[in-house]
Amino acid sequence: MATIINGKEIAAQIKAEVRAEVDQLKAEGMNPGLAVVLVGNNPASRVYVTNKKKDCAEVGFASYEYTLPEETTEAELLELVEQLNRDDTVQGILVQLPLPDQICEQTILRAIAPEKDVDAFHPENVGHIMIGDYAFLPCTPAGVIEMIDRAGIELQGKHCVVIGRSNIVGKPMAMLLLHRNATVTICHSRTKNLAEQTRQADILVAAVGKANFVTADMVKPGAVVIDVGMNRNAEGKLVGDVAYDEVEQIASAITPVPGGVGPMTRAILMHNTLTAAKIAFTKRS
Ligand code: GUN
Repeated sequence: MATIINGKEIAAQIKAEVRAEVDQLKAEGMNPGLAVVLVGNNPASRVYVTNKKKDCAEVGFASYEYTLPEETTEAELLELVEQLNRDDTVQGILVQLPLPDQICEQTILRAIAPEKDVDAFHPENVGHIMIGDYAFLPCTPAGVIEMIDRAGIELQGKHCVVIGRSNIVGKPMAMLLLHRNATVTICHSRTKNLAEQTRQADILVAAVGKANFVTADMVKPGAVVIDVGMNRNAEGKLVGDVAYDEVEQIASAITPVPGGVGPMTRAILMHNTLTAAKIAFTKRS
């Protein structure tokens, strides 16, 4: 039976640490704020945005929500981003993805001021991550590293296999593991003999987006299994990418869904917003 890595508990610790620093910033006259922009009616995005507002209240940030209609044009969204870039009450800007088809995501992400880019999706911040010299790390991969660290699991020299190559998770995840001296393999939908690759993993990170994708035969006994998946099953229940019941029988440690990577992503967003506020505060004083 695997040890369960409790993301909810670790996230609560991180948020308490952020809260203490926010209180200090406020005592020094800075009132940090996060702007969250939601375009359209994606129900999952709606839930994420509501949760982010709750997290802001918990750690003491002001939060500003901008909800725009599905038919918003790229020019209209750009105008809002530019307004937020200029707004001194806002230190962090997050535009919830995905965006409706008429809006080019990359155009919007490039318009966000890099020092307010708490997602770390701007190409300038992506470049910083590649080099290993950064202010912000993307929330989900940074959350995974933090939970591995706080669970006392060593990364150096380990073989980490990441399934998924998205810009949000897979690619930056691989880079952060590499920065920690792991040996990294990235697998994706065209990988041949996937199970053969994943069975090499000391640490397996699943970021696929398909329920029950990682089965016990794909996991080396004793491996650490990190489940980034957030899928809804037929009953509407939130499930990960890992067939949890069978994989936890052979893994040494595993993250549950819910209560694993999800809360960590949210906690790191709060941490990144704090970083942005500290940068702004230093410039101001
Ligand atoms: N949609 C799914 N994950 C994310 C994320 O981490 N940031 C943003 N902005 N949108 C998302």
